[in-house]
Order: sequence, then C-alpha cells, then structure tokens
Amino acid sequence: NIVPVILSGGSGTRLWPVSRPERPKQLLPLTADETMLQLTAVRTRGFKAASVDRPILVSNAAHADIIDDQLRHSGVSDHRIILEPVGRNTAPAIALAALEAKPDDALLVMPSDHVIADVPAFHAAIERALPLVADGWLITFGITPEAPETGYGYIKMGETCGTGVNQVERFVEKPDVANAERMLAEGGHAWNAGIFLFRADAYLAALERHRPDMLAAVRAAMAQAKREGAHIFPDAKAFHACPSDSIDYAVMERERKVACVPVSMGWSDVGSWDSLHAVSARCADENAVRGDALLLGAKNCLVHSDGPRVTLVDVDDLIVVVSQGDIMILKRGESQKVRKVTEALAALD
Ligand code: GDD
Ligand code: MG
Repeated sequence: NIVPVILSGGSGTRLWPVSRPERPKQLLPLTADETMLQLTAVRTRGFKAASVDRPILVSNAAHADIIDDQLRHSGVSDHRIILEPVGRNTAPAIALAALEAKPDDALLVMPSDHVIADVPAFHAAIERALPLVADGWLITFGITPEAPETGYGYIKMGETCGTGVNQVERFVEKPDVANAERMLAEGGHAWNAGIFLFRADAYLAALERHRPDMLAAVRAAMAQAKREGAHIFPDAKAFHACPSDSIDYAVMERERKVACVPVSMGWSDVGSWDSLHAVSARCADENAVRGDALLLGAKNCLVHSDGPRVTLVDVDDLIVVVSQGDIMILKRGESQKVRKVTEALAALD
C-alpha cells in the first residue's frame, strides 16, 4: 500500500507579494486554477502499480481549515492531517506521518509546492522503485541538473541496483557554489527532487540510527496526540522539545541504503518568479499571464494580477505582480531580488 504524505510547512517568501505567511505558495493557484496543494493531492490518482491509501498531510496548525477546504474542492475527503504546533523541519514532520501510518506502508513523501508536468513519467518512476522499497531501501528521485544551484541536494549516482534505479554513492545537501560547479562539471550527479519513497518502518529505523533524540521526541508527541475527526494534534510540549532538521541532513546524507530513480518529469520547485515563468503556459510572444492583462507588443513577460488590469506596452522581459494591494515590478532573470523586498519590508515593521 502506498500512502501519500504531503508536506505543507513552508512559508515561501520568494513569491512575495502573492505568497504571504497566512497563505504560502502551496495554498495558491500559481500555475493553474487549482492550488499547488490541490495539484499535489490529485497527482497519485490513476496510479496503477499498487493501491494508494488515504493521504496524510503534515502541516502548520494555522492552515488546517484552508487545507480541508481546498482538498474537499478537489474531491479528496478521506485525508488525515497532522497539525504541528511549531515547525521542526522535514525530518520530524515525516516521522510524525511514519508513526501514524502502518509499519509496512510505503510512504510517498511529497512537498506540496512543486510542479510535475509529466504525471505518467512520475508514476512510472514510482513503479520502478517499488521492488526496492519492499526491500527496505530509501528512495529518492533524481532530476538532471541544469545549473550549479546551491538550494538543492546533489546525488552522486552509483551502481545500478534495479531497472532504472541506481544506488546513491553520496548525497550532498545544499553544497556551496564551488562544490555545485565541481559536481556539475564532473557529471554523474542528479538534483534531489525532494520527493521520497520508503516503508514507514525503514524510515523510522534510519532515524533511530542517526537521530534517536529526534525520534524519541516525535514518539512522545504522537503517543499523547489528541484527535478530532481527521485532525491529529501531536502533544505540543513534546513536539516543541524536538530538535529541528531536514530529512536531507538528518537521514539522506548519512544513510547507506539509499537509491535514486532518475526521472525526467517536467519537475520544478517553483522557487522564484523566474521559475514560475519558465513552467507557466504561454500566450503569444512568450508571455505568461494570470489575471487581467492587456499586452501590446510586450515580449517574454510574466503578469500575475489578483484584480487590476495590467497593461504593458512595448516592453520586454518584465515580471509584474499585483497582489493584495501591492505592486512589484522586476526584470526577468533577477527575481531572486525579491528577498531584498521582504527584508526591507521586515525592517519597516
Ligand atoms: N509539515 C512541515 N513541517 N512541512 C515542512 C516543514 C515543517 O517544519 N519544513 C518544510 N516543510 C515542507 C515545505 O513546505 C516543502 O513542501 C518541503 O517540506 C521541503 O522543504 P523546503 O524547505 O522547501 O526544502 P528545500 O527546498 O530547502 O530543500 C529540499 O527540496 C529540494 C528540492 O526542491 C531538499 O529535499 C533538497 O535536497 C531538494 O533538492
Ligand atoms: Mg523547497
């Protein structure tokens, strides 16, 4: 049985002014009429190689109602949500779900804020991994790297250990630029897509080996969890005491029985307005538009408006975002500078 585990904990400040703490990136419709979370929740529909069970969401307690609402609109009603009193990063979040699931469930851990354009390719990759999952391997999914990005995990591919599956020789989370450039030049590396597949008991055993302190805290929090319908509240005091770390640093860099399925599936983690432009459907002249816009001779622009009509006349390579009373205009290719805006605004407060 596959149990989808959907992580929704990020705050997504890089897509300001649309993404805000009350409504981060995964709860917004950025690439389609559905939100990123809704697209993630329906992504396992039609998977044929194994049965897919009720999904488990792990989320910030503040977003419970919005999540329930969005899932209901997508026809998902049998989900459970584990509501964290505080964020402790992905290693504990996944451990909460692993303790809620049955030991032999295969957990398909998915961030709620990624785009996967080619869903059949994703399903085929999962299918290739299943025999190794049964054997206790922790599976990662590898994307062909395009640039020396420092925000990703890098996987050095080792020997084949199944059809279309390679052993992971080394996992390096968020390298510095020099190391990222070296791995890119060397070849034989993939980006970690941030999607994982493993038996619940295999993950818990790995966490026990590498971070027993974390596992003990999560066990205590789940042992005293309160339940209200589909909502599960881990004990706040116990979970507060849990150390914070990502699955990548806490487990993947240290564990040896890790394998990678290389897959080309139109993946993007939509980390910036530029990457949103790259994955969005285009109208004429490479423009991508959501909301009301009048484009006269504009080329290569991204327009995102939640109300006012945006008119662009004979301009190229602009990102124009209108949201919740804010207007932001940037040059395309420079959307990492949104960080400057959120920093400046934080200093004003
Ligand atoms: N429930 C919950 N609680 N979810 C969380 C928490 C938390 O405390 N922290 C993060 N998440 C969710 C985020 O919302 C996101 O969906 C996912 O877990 C991954 O966390 P990120 O914070 O976005 O990780 P990252 O982008 O820095 O790095 C990961 O993803 C890359 C690909 O996008 C790593 O797995 C990298 O190795 C990978 O390349
Ligand atoms: Mg991310």
